[in-house]
Amino acid sequence: MPSSILLVNGPNLNTLGMREPHIYGHETLKEIEAKCKQAAKKLGMSLECFQSNCEGEIITKIQQAVKGYQGVIINPGAYTHTSVAIMDALLLIKSPIIEVHLSNIFQREAFRHESYVSKVAKGVICGFGSNGYLMALSAMAELVKKGK
Ligand code: DQA
Repeated sequence: MPSSILLVNGPNLNTLGMREPHIYGHETLKEIEAKCKQAAKKLGMSLECFQSNCEGEIITKIQQAVKGYQGVIINPGAYTHTSVAIMDALLLIKSPIIEVHLSNIFQREAFRHESYVSKVAKGVICGFGSNGYLMALSAMAELVKKGK
């Protein structure tokens, strides 16, 4: 059985491709998800993709992911910088969590420098555009192999 990984994208990431392409690139979320699913398969994992603009829906999905997934990759969008509730939900997850941002949040406005999710994630990848998701999958494959 391949390891199951959950990819969660937060608010406004459904508008990738149209949204500030000079910051987030020209690919749509559908294209990125398709690329990630292919990459996951090559790494011997299966990937479920979830996106929501609603904090509560993201929290419910994370709660449901307590069982049945060997890892969670999450780009919480703007909730990164505000959501204690998403951080609390992630604390339930015993499998590795990797945080991804398309942009380098540390080069941007000061309010983007703080991440609640980083406090509970195994690691963070930011600033590499959509490649960051592929990097996260490859890091996740290593973590899953080591059982960490
Ligand atoms: C983002 C960075 C956040 O600050 C922003 O609110 C986003 C996208 C990124 O992927 O670079 O929605 O998470």
